[in-house]
Amino acid sequence: MTSTPVPWWRDAVVYQVYVRSFADELSHDGDADGIGDLPGITSRLPYLRDLGVDALWITPFYTSPQKDHGYDVADYMDVDPLFGSLADADVLLETAHELGLRVIVDLVPNHTSDQHAWFQAALAAAPGSPERARYLFREGRGADGSEPPNNWNSIFGGPAWTRVPDGSWYLHLFDTSQPDLDWRNPEVGDMFEGVLRFWLDRGVDGFRVDVAHGLYKEASLRDQVRPEPTQEKANKGKKKAAESMVERVLRDEPMWEQPEVHEVYRRWRKVLDSYPGERMAVAEAWTQTAESMALFIRPDELHQAFNFGWLGTPWKAKDFAEVVNNSIAAVGAAASAPTWVLSNHDVIRHPTRYGGGPVGLARGRAATLAMLALPGSAYLYQGEELGLEQVDVPPEARQDPSWFRTGEPGRDGCRVPLPWSGSAPPYGFGGAEGSQPWIPQPPDWAHLTVAAQQDDDGSTLAFYRRALAARREVFAGADETTEATTEGKMLVVRRAGVTVLLNTSTYPKALPEGEVLISSGPLIDGLLPPDTAVWLR
Ligand code: NOJ
Repeated sequence: MTSTPVPWWRDAVVYQVYVRSFADELSHDGDADGIGDLPGITSRLPYLRDLGVDALWITPFYTSPQKDHGYDVADYMDVDPLFGSLADADVLLETAHELGLRVIVDLVPNHTSDQHAWFQAALAAAPGSPERARYLFREGRGADGSEPPNNWNSIFGGPAWTRVPDGSWYLHLFDTSQPDLDWRNPEVGDMFEGVLRFWLDRGVDGFRVDVAHGLYKEASLRDQVRPEPTQEKANKGKKKAAESMVERVLRDEPMWEQPEVHEVYRRWRKVLDSYPGERMAVAEAWTQTAESMALFIRPDELHQAFNFGWLGTPWKAKDFAEVVNNSIAAVGAAASAPTWVLSNHDVIRHPTRYGGGPVGLARGRAATLAMLALPGSAYLYQGEELGLEQVDVPPEARQDPSWFRTGEPGRDGCRVPLPWSGSAPPYGFGGAEGSQPWIPQPPDWAHLTVAAQQDDDGSTLAFYRRALAARREVFAGADETTEATTEGKMLVVRRAGVTVLLNTSTYPKALPEGEVLISSGPLIDGLLPPDTAVWLR
């Protein structure tokens, strides 16, 4: 154990609140709207305190036409009436702080909404005007400029360029309603410094930085060099073989990870450090390598970056061990601490990824328990403490912009509003009795509500509460030195005098001597069943 006090975020458990789907308190024009809001979050803060998390991260609640459910911001310094008001945000912050919870808010600097005053001014102004220079407007290619300026694709499918009536094109790496800002224009950096200060002055403890590896694009906006599909396949094999070595096969990505982006974070770090109370920022940076992720968390940049390695690991002890050791080594080089994530609002919920049903849930709980023993900070996604699975949302109810652009199911299935109580939708989420919230809830969720689980010792909710309490008791302030190995198909992690075992085999495993601190499911005849994890001391 070390006696050096560590900053709060370094080993915090952060609970992600997807604002539209957490709890609905507000009614609009007398009608409950089935969409979560800030007063809904405030009313449930005691639940989060009792769960045992240290902080919450709230997805964007700013003024927005909601084309990408808040990740399309029209005014960064106001609350959308859908979610409440600035006064509601103040009450939320104050109540959270009284309960000992920190609050991280989302910051979306790569793009604005097309309804932002800047973009509206850009559309009204002429090509080449200062208004257009805040975004990436370019002339098209081809004799009449009718081809997009380059070959980049949007993450949500289709070309990353849209043409405006005067013939110019603008870049949007996401939806057409999310024009990318031109960070080479100093006005943009100044605007965001103002946004940071606005929320810091109101008392937020930190920011989650959306698309943190974006912002700057290679100045030439040249074509992306894409391998032929057959080459792409060969590269995949090569990458696997080269994974543990220095050599990697990298994609050409002139739209991501430009060196200039780090200047932005150096500037922000100075702003954050100028406020009292250990304010922090965590990057959502989908970088190509662990080493380039570490660049974002150098001591004078952001404090943390999401590490999606744990989330992407298949159910194999060897792969889990590799991710643990590689992640720790990569962040160690930057003198930072790792983060761990299993689920969020963009990916399939982890019990479903692990196969769904009882096996998926057992694996989900086991992976969570192993994750909570790792050094650094853990990010939980609302509803995972209830064991929720991905929902197969019917096509007519889907709302994700990527569904409309690609026809792929998209991310609605992990965004279904939480079930709090009762035996039928809306399960105490809020909204009119008998109504369905903005994404319909399944008819068979009655046994998954908070009310149904809270007094049941065997429930997933009770398990999460025990696991978070045990983490505080065993690992708070513990040395970060960690060793991950495998024995047979079992992950073995040793940290702070505790041995963590995660059985990914199909056979029960004998347990070494030691006191069982907690297990993710029942032990059978003193053995560790498949798909189960345990902490021993
Ligand atoms: C990442 C966010 O997590 C996702 O939900 C959003 O669609 C994109 N960034 C664009 O802002």
